[in-house]
Amino acid sequence: MAVLKKIRTRWWTQPAPPDGYPQSVPEPTLVGVATRYDVRPLTISQLDECWNLDQRCFVDGEAYSRETFEYLLTAPESVSYRAVTSGGLMVGFVIGLVEPDHTGHVTTVGVAPEHRRRHLGKRLMLQVEEGFRRRNVRLVRLEVRSLNTAAQKVYENLGYAVTQRLPKYYSNGGDGLLMLKSLD
Ligand SMILES: CC(C)(COP(=O)(O)OP(=O)(O)OC[C@H]1O[C@@H](n2cnc3c(N)ncnc32)[C@H](O)[C@@H]1OP(=O)(O)O)[C@@H](O)C(=O)NCCC(=O)NCCS
Repeated sequence: MAVLKKIRTRWWTQPAPPDGYPQSVPEPTLVGVATRYDVRPLTISQLDECWNLDQRCFVDGEAYSRETFEYLLTAPESVSYRAVTSGGLMVGFVIGLVEPDHTGHVTTVGVAPEHRRRHLGKRLMLQVEEGFRRRNVRLVRLEVRSLNTAAQKVYENLGYAVTQRLPKYYSNGGDGLLMLKSLD
């Protein structure tokens, strides 16, 4: 997950949501139920659903603010998708940006805890890569916590390689790893 300093500087001064604004929406858990998932574009219409899901995915204090999501989902360079159940519930998301240097930047990807290890993270990553390809992106980059071995496994399986360590990249002092993949 990327630390979006530029976006934070620009958006974090927004007022906090009013008291009583829902910080998380309870979602039904599906234990032992075979579920079919679709991957669809993620747009500003799903802002609150995505923001709430992100808070369930990133419990380390690094979840993005609602304003950051608003920025990410309205930016013209956004390449974003969601995974939904057959009932239409969002259970995963990926947000990418086509950067000015024309690299594809995966800023965040998350899957609801109760839907993990069903290859949704992989499907979302493959879909964002396809979206990048359509925009003539040839190189994809992302940042991941050095301790986040689950995410690193997903990326390594898809052909991403660590090219750099980013000391104290995260606000709690944790190191990041820069990972790259060529789409050629
Ligand atoms: C990282 C994350 C998106 C992976 O989503 P997922 O849908 O569970 O991942 P997938 O099912 O697509 O995993 C694909 C493969 O990656 C590997 N993998 C995934 N999670 C793993 C884990 N916890 N431990 C070991 N390997 C793992 C496995 O090889 C897996 O294939 P397999 O299940 O057939 O063995 C999910 O764990 C998540 O949302 N984590 C919290 C948010 C986060 O850290 N996001 C990434 C920020 S950089």
